[in-house]
Amino acid sequence: MRAFARRIWLPLATIANLGISPAPAADAGHGADLARRWCASCHLVTSSQAQASADVPSFASVARKPDFNPEKLAFFLLDPHPKMPNFPLSRTEAADLAAYIGSLRQ
Ligand code: HEC
Repeated sequence: MRAFARRIWLPLATIANLGISPAPAADAGHGADLARRWCASCHLVTSSQAQASADVPSFASVARKPDFNPEKLAFFLLDPHPKMPNFPLSRTEAADLAAYIGSLRQ
């Protein structure tokens, strides 16, 4: 019975969390993993990265823009930019990436 209840409640809690919470707590550490995996071929995603494409803004420079806003960035990332391969990012992944980029802001 307890195991059954857990099986029902876990997915329900997850759905409720996705649906109701306006800004799910984003995980910048996970965003950093995603950035290294998916974005580092073009963007400088960490200060220790040696090389990326010329003409592609580094994530640190994105973060330093005066109008930087993690919500807007997450929204932008849901709709892949031109020249960027079509990443099927989930809302959570987009928010995590935005949180990571935001963490580079100083
Ligand atoms: C194939 C190369 C490529 C990959 C991979 C790539 N990007 Fe980009 N990205 C670009 C280019 C080129 C631009 C400049 C946009 C333009 O000029 O159209 C850009 C622009 C951006 C911008 C806007 C910068 C600004 O000045 O406003 C953000 C944010 C961004 N990328 C995030 C990401 C994230 C997050 C990932 C990984 C999920 C990613 N990109 C993967 C090539 C890439």
